[in-house]
Amino acid sequence: MCGITGIVTRNSDEIGELLVRCSSKLTYRGYDSVGVAAVRNGIVDLRKDVGTVDEVNKLLGLSQMKGDRGIAQLRWATYGAPTKVNAQPHFGCEEVFYGAHNGNIHNYVEYKKELLETGHIVRSENDGELCVHAVDKYYEETGDMFEAVRKSTDDLHGAFAYAVGRADEPEIYAVKMGSSLVAGVANEATIVSSDLPSVLPLTNNVIYLADGEMLVLTHDDVKVFRIEDGKQLDRKPELSNVDARAAEKGGYPHFMLKEINEQPKVVQDVMGVLEGQHSDEWIKMFADASRHFLVACGSSYNASIVGTYYFNRLAGIPIIHGLGGQFDLMYGQTMNEDSLSILVSQSGETKDIMNVLKRVKEKNLGKTLGILNVIGSTLMFESDSYIPMACGYEVSVPATKTYYSQSIIFAYLAAKLGEYNGHIDPSEARSFVGMLKNDLPRLTQETIDRTGILAKNLARTMLDVKDLYCLGYGFTDGVAREGALKIKEICYNHCEGMYSSEFKHGPLSIVTKNYPVIFATTPEDSWMVINHINEVRARYGRTIIVGEHEEKLEPYIDNKHDYLIVPKSDVLINPILDVIPLQLLSYFLSVDLGINPDLPRNLSKTLTVD
Ligand code: BG6
Repeated sequence: MCGITGIVTRNSDEIGELLVRCSSKLTYRGYDSVGVAAVRNGIVDLRKDVGTVDEVNKLLGLSQMKGDRGIAQLRWATYGAPTKVNAQPHFGCEEVFYGAHNGNIHNYVEYKKELLETGHIVRSENDGELCVHAVDKYYEETGDMFEAVRKSTDDLHGAFAYAVGRADEPEIYAVKMGSSLVAGVANEATIVSSDLPSVLPLTNNVIYLADGEMLVLTHDDVKVFRIEDGKQLDRKPELSNVDARAAEKGGYPHFMLKEINEQPKVVQDVMGVLEGQHSDEWIKMFADASRHFLVACGSSYNASIVGTYYFNRLAGIPIIHGLGGQFDLMYGQTMNEDSLSILVSQSGETKDIMNVLKRVKEKNLGKTLGILNVIGSTLMFESDSYIPMACGYEVSVPATKTYYSQSIIFAYLAAKLGEYNGHIDPSEARSFVGMLKNDLPRLTQETIDRTGILAKNLARTMLDVKDLYCLGYGFTDGVAREGALKIKEICYNHCEGMYSSEFKHGPLSIVTKNYPVIFATTPEDSWMVINHINEVRARYGRTIIVGEHEEKLEPYIDNKHDYLIVPKSDVLINPILDVIPLQLLSYFLSVDLGINPDLPRNLSKTLTVD
């Protein structure tokens, strides 16, 4: 969605440089526009415009802004087009109050009308501006900044977080009401931000916050209060072990390629988590539930589809999987106190998932198990239990290593649950878990090494492709959808991911000579997939195959680069590997098309809006 960063320094006059350095780490949260409000001697210097941090910094000299405190905001547009006037931060009525938000103010229209009718000067179409005016309004009533900020949340409905200050007061205040917020205490400064990567350049001393809490930042301290009654909470900084370098490219041209190459290590790290002391607790949550629901969005949803096949095969249980946004309408009435909702979200903040989490808790519809990557996220705090995906920060907007981690988590849980409920015998479970732990890191590396050049060569033949399908069958159902999503996200091509046996029921009509259709398959299913391949080739379509090498598939390949061959592995390991060539294909095609795969247009890494 958006990223806010507020900093108060002790002796520095270089607030612009600090804010740009820290807030630029949030680029993955939004890059439609960026702005900085810097305060020096009671004067607020506000500079903002459309574009990325680098572009606007070059244009307006953000890094050169002087002052000892300030707020920066990177925007992903929801309310109000991405224009200069709608960029954040905003002023209140005069150039006294300054602030910025992340999230959605659902009562934007009504509240803006109320403010205008009471004489407020509202300049933009952006809902974030109303947060500043709400503080302005209550300051008029109370004459006290703390009370003004505390009361301001009464007027605002939705899910949001904001930082706000007053030109003539040294503190910066922040509020967490449904969107992510984290703070840090450094030697010479304090910081509040939407996400950890922008805190780490300053400090690893981190304060995680919960909804309904507010902060007061001074140059050497961060105090936490409960908004409801203004009571101060005893919240001490804790040392975060997330490596700040994780947010650097490490020599790769893009974060996406770096994160694909981190996947072998992700296997080792997530297996370490899964074999840790909480594993039995998670398995018991599954065993105690009468119904199991897997809820996710985007790439997390595609991984969840792969998960449902593992739970069927290895544990013999049906998992109902659904998109966050449809879940309540599709399954809400079938949930009860014996249900288990597995909420999958790498950011742990996706609003569609938060909505499900809120409803399950409010209606007492059973337990919740979060599967998340961002420690300190709302999903982490609010779930009954959570499984960390142990990927390190994923900066690139298109998910890769977090999808990979999720696939492994589902495969492992399914095997352990199958052993627990007797669906598979312990030796089979041990053997499979052993493959995940001992073979998959090597096989992942081999797949990256082998299919990188194949994907690069294939991408070169697809520069003119604007429309295609990516089909999967059985375990590669979710894999194909993920490959299609990657192509959509970062190549701006229409690529539909669907089940290959379904293709003949209508979509086949799209196929003409050379129309490309990608098939992700495994040796266990290729006997069936060959039928679907023939249906495309009978209409002279171009068939591209992803999977292990099989002699019987050779006749269906017209050009050698149309076969992305992955190393041989167990039939239940192969679906995990099959996604890698599709990740690499989308990456190389994106770069060949002159697109930055890390920052695809219109998208954001974390969507905290409905
Ligand atoms: C989208 C991202 O905004 O959210 C996708 O661009 C991601 O990459 C999806 O898969 C879901 O995100 P999360 O954090 O809930 O897994």
